[in-house]
Amino acid sequence: MKLLFDNDIGANPLSGRTIAVIGFGSQGSAHAENLRDSGLSVTVGLRAGSSSREKAFEAGFQVLGIEEAAAQADVVALLIPDEEHGETYRRHLAGSLAEGKTLLVAHGFSLHFGQVEPHPGLDVVMVAPKGPGHQVRSEFRRGRGLVMLVAVEQNFSGHARDTALQYASAIGGGRGGIFESTFRDECETDLFGEQAVICGGLTHLIAAGFETLVDAGYPPEAAYFECVHEVKLTADLIHLRGISGMRDVISNTARFGDVTRGPRVIGPEVREEMKKILSEIRSGKFAEEWMEENRSGRRVFSSLLDRQRDKPIEQVGARIRKLIHPPGRESQGIE
Ligand SMILES: NC(=O)c1ccc[n+]([C@@H]2O[C@H](COP(=O)([O-])OP(=O)(O)OC[C@H]3O[C@@H](n4cnc5c(N)ncnc54)[C@H](OP(=O)(O)O)[C@@H]3O)[C@@H](O)[C@H]2O)c1
Repeated sequence: MKLLFDNDIGANPLSGRTIAVIGFGSQGSAHAENLRDSGLSVTVGLRAGSSSREKAFEAGFQVLGIEEAAAQADVVALLIPDEEHGETYRRHLAGSLAEGKTLLVAHGFSLHFGQVEPHPGLDVVMVAPKGPGHQVRSEFRRGRGLVMLVAVEQNFSGHARDTALQYASAIGGGRGGIFESTFRDECETDLFGEQAVICGGLTHLIAAGFETLVDAGYPPEAAYFECVHEVKLTADLIHLRGISGMRDVISNTARFGDVTRGPRVIGPEVREEMKKILSEIRSGKFAEEWMEENRSGRRVFSSLLDRQRDKPIEQVGARIRKLIHPPGRESQGIE
């Protein structure tokens, strides 16, 4: 495996070219600001009546309609929610992206699952930061960067890889490390990671642990400290030192509990379910379910989110976080 850094990346094919960043949300705002700070020419493309217009304008960007921005640009970074890519591409980009231009996304979902069917005369690339937009920006401002996955889906010009690498470098990937991948691998592993581990798996593990302690009569505050608060400390250790490295600095008792009880928590049933989740991702079943949920007004999605928000763990957490992070002490290494 090879990670690429700024020194590995050659001459700048983006220099003198215009980049249109479509969308000014989490990734869009961070990419636009980092690209501009890297000396590149950036315009922001937004839909009519966009609520992001003022923010982009105040940040000093020229704000155009999506079609206009795309028509003037050499590279179009489509940084709006994945479920909106298909419609936006068909309505606003298909006719404005002339042959030889680059369509860039930050996640492979819409291309891999056929929501966007790009014109064959385009370069189509992905630069996927492994973290949310505010960290793409904050790391860049500190002179650092996030790890990024880069991939090429279409290489009409013969320079698609260079364009993607330069773009990644310009938003900080060349400092954090760039890993070359494919749309399929990025998309399927990203969906699996967020469903089974870092979002779905972790949040439900935390809540199940908290509820087990509270149901057994322990104070919710104690349950919160043990099952929620310490997650960050453990995650930071794993991030820095790996799983075994984390185990090196915990007590013998914690380590023994980890290796004897952990496999019971994540037993064969959980592993079987993980395989099912992965096969739903790979077959396109998850993508179809998500797109259908959007078409039908997101009723299931909204009610599941509301149910999670109303759980006691959220109220206890809000109280505790207010005590731990009072105004003026919010940061504590957390962004
Ligand atoms: N967020 C992350 O942590 C993360 C990490 C890695 C990769 N990504 C990828 O980055 C891409 C963008 O994600 P994001 O989280 O940055 O999105 P986001 O913050 O939800 O994007 C919001 C922006 O998209 C615009 N937008 C929403 N719907 C639109 C539509 N139908 N037509 C035109 N503009 C629309 C919004 O404009 P309005 O104000 O007009 O609504 C706003 O400017 C996705 O492909 C995602 O998978 C995200």
